[in-house]
Amino acid sequence: MANILHTTTELSNGIVMPKIGFGTWQTKPGSETYASISKALKVGYRFIDTAWSYRNEENVGDAIRDSGIKRKDLFIQTKLPGEIKTYDEVLRYFEHSLKNLSVEYVDAYLIHAPWPWSNPGENCDQQNREVWRAMEQIYRSGRAKSIGISNFSVHDIHNLLQDEQLTITPMINQIQYYVGYTQSEIADYSRKHGMRIEAYSPLATGRLLDNETITSLAEKYKVTTAQIALRYCVQNEVIPLPKARSMGHIINNSELDFEIQDSDMRLLDRMTDPSEKRGWHAGDHTFYDL
Ligand SMILES: NC(=O)c1ccc[n+]([C@@H]2O[C@H](COP(=O)([O-])OP(=O)(O)OC[C@H]3O[C@@H](n4cnc5c(N)ncnc54)[C@H](OP(=O)(O)O)[C@@H]3O)[C@@H](O)[C@H]2O)c1
Repeated sequence: MANILHTTTELSNGIVMPKIGFGTWQTKPGSETYASISKALKVGYRFIDTAWSYRNEENVGDAIRDSGIKRKDLFIQTKLPGEIKTYDEVLRYFEHSLKNLSVEYVDAYLIHAPWPWSNPGENCDQQNREVWRAMEQIYRSGRAKSIGISNFSVHDIHNLLQDEQLTITPMINQIQYYVGYTQSEIADYSRKHGMRIEAYSPLATGRLLDNETITSLAEKYKVTTAQIALRYCVQNEVIPLPKARSMGHIINNSELDFEIQDSDMRLLDRMTDPSEKRGWHAGDHTFYDL
């Protein structure tokens, strides 16, 4: 079985994307981010997920530059803050993300959320259509090789698809996804429209790690609970974005060359959400203005 770090998939527009990404939420700006990205690149990760709101794009960019890895061999993804809802502001924030990352283009640019983090669930239908118009413009300029969404519900996606002024279907939907919380309605709807699903918080921000069912499967397969949780995503054709800081975790999460049997996949499918709290709550993503 090929090492997951060397396997790729294609987005609906033909862009090639690695089958595992590396997360950076809550990795502190500065030396912590620089070190974790440097380690991940050394281990062989080529897909980095960041966001304007994480305030670490600059450190991601520094680590990428110092790694000496060719730009064409990397998949760099960042996100527009959920608070930004006007056409001109989208273009302005995008420019700043490129500048922070010191790159001429990103491989994927996502809308972080359909609403501001201070008010999840707020109806921003009209604003999201305007934002998507700007995202299409960025895509056409060639400076984002693909565009997508995150935290969008079926309603939010439909809102974009039904607008006749909008012509590009998002290529990616990044959603919270882990064993016991797989959001099948959104995942199925997104797939039906050709989107690739990325799993954020694939370890439920660490809260899956002491789950009894997963731990007993880990013993059976002689792997770690983290590896079971990540392999579950991979076998469901979802791209996990584990975040880790220690070299041990970073390596462990990339060693997924084992197969979870069908019966055990079904066991994991039947699990209910073992996590008491979702991976984020209002206020987790503080908005930083330009
Ligand atoms: N679009 C969105 O709204 C959104 C929201 C949340 C997350 N995300 C993205 O998804 C990424 C991942 O989600 P997440 O940050 O919530 O966390 P996660 O990947 O679900 O879990 C990370 C936690 O698990 C620990 N860990 C990692 N590998 C481990 C291993 N092999 N063994 C034991 N512990 C391990 C990490 O510890 P150490 O760090 O100490 O190594 C950290 O505490 C984010 O970083 C971000 O890029 C996106």
